[in-house]
Amino acid sequence: MSTPTPVKREAFGSTLGAFAATLGSAVGLGNIWKFPYLTGSNGGAAFVLTYLLAVALVALPVMVVEHAIGRHLRTDAVHAYARIVPRQPFWAAVGWAGLAASLLIMAFYTDVAGWVLAYVFKSLGAFASGATLTPATFQALSGGTWEPVLWQLAVLAVTAGVVAAGVSGGIEKVTKTLMPLLLVLLLACNVRALTLPGAAAGVAYLFAPDFSKLSGAMLLSALGLAFFKLSLGMGTMTTYGAYLPERTHLVPNAVRVALADTLVSLLAGLAIFPAVFALGDTPAGGAGLLFITLPRVFAQMPAGGLFTALFFLLAAAATLGAMVSLMEVPVAWLTRTARLRRPAAAALAALLMAALGIPATLSRGPLLSNVRVLDRDFFTLFDFLSSNVLLPLGGLAITVVGGWLVPRAVFRDELGKGHGEPAWHDGLVHALVRYVAPLLILLILLHGLGLLGG
Ligand code: TRP
Repeated sequence: MSTPTPVKREAFGSTLGAFAATLGSAVGLGNIWKFPYLTGSNGGAAFVLTYLLAVALVALPVMVVEHAIGRHLRTDAVHAYARIVPRQPFWAAVGWAGLAASLLIMAFYTDVAGWVLAYVFKSLGAFASGATLTPATFQALSGGTWEPVLWQLAVLAVTAGVVAAGVSGGIEKVTKTLMPLLLVLLLACNVRALTLPGAAAGVAYLFAPDFSKLSGAMLLSALGLAFFKLSLGMGTMTTYGAYLPERTHLVPNAVRVALADTLVSLLAGLAIFPAVFALGDTPAGGAGLLFITLPRVFAQMPAGGLFTALFFLLAAAATLGAMVSLMEVPVAWLTRTARLRRPAAAALAALLMAALGIPATLSRGPLLSNVRVLDRDFFTLFDFLSSNVLLPLGGLAITVVGGWLVPRAVFRDELGKGHGEPAWHDGLVHALVRYVAPLLILLILLHGLGLLGG
């Protein structure tokens, strides 16, 4: 019995299709919201540099392993990790942790996606009345009670609807056409932001590192962002690997995805930080950075309100693809294990996500902002637990499996598919998977969680 999934399609039969689908999961709020906001609260260029290193040395090899394992076994993540090492079903824990991570991530991701959706309408309304969106607009929205929850539930309902329908080629086509448009708008934003007087300070902030900003917690945030950005460490990319065609070269595909995704993040940074400095905002503005700075940049252009609405609309479309890939993890498992039909599985997944998501959303408002667990509100806690604990742990386990437990021949075979003969980079990636990535993850994890003295 096969269950339809968003990516089990013929379009995946081409290398371009494989690239587009992988990139579709990677690009999302991580680029335009999380990357700028973490860069801002971690001091700028030193964080960006650490992040780039984490992508190249850790995330890239992990993506190759996930694709290789997925393609080798051609099954969903929970089953894949239960079977990948014979007589060691313990590794199924990677799939279970991934399930937990998908719920935790969606809890705060849908909150932010709700803000994005709300901003489409708010910027249109402001445009119609000749007003502009202010920081107070964002504070009122994100710090509210009913309003953010309703937007969040709307986002969850839309995502569940798409997942329930088994995702027609339609939605993917829409996302694929809208994504280049988002890029164009981002470029327009770059031009405007970079030509504001005082913009140079923002560019320097992004690219001239101040290494006194390095700390264990910052390294862990950069590593966690690398996993989060490329949808790694929890089985999404393993599942996608199961749909990759035999002739796709895994290493070049992963390199292209990482490069394209990083480009989008850097463009977002170049739209936001020059403006932050030119307009006298603070880079450490936290989770609201995107929502406060971007409307101010657009306000400097003619018909800025319309552009703001369009930007957030396109951002919402890009985000939908990422959310669908996140919700697919529990849905794929529920349809197999509980034999639920897709609509029932999607409804159940959405309910679970709402159960975690509503407290996350309310934790930014008067109702639950005082509730602290591990010194964090729910929103921050879920973000921290998923990105800074579960994803790196999952990534560590995946490198151990791929580098040490899967026979070298299997690894070589998967990476070599489509080449004819071994490529020079396949051995390099294996060395990264076996030695460099696990060591770095372990060190950063222990150090960042304060288990290694700071
Ligand atoms: N990569 C997406 C983003 O940057 C989010 C995402 C989608 C994700 N699927 C994931 C993160 C799986 C971690 C794991 O917005």
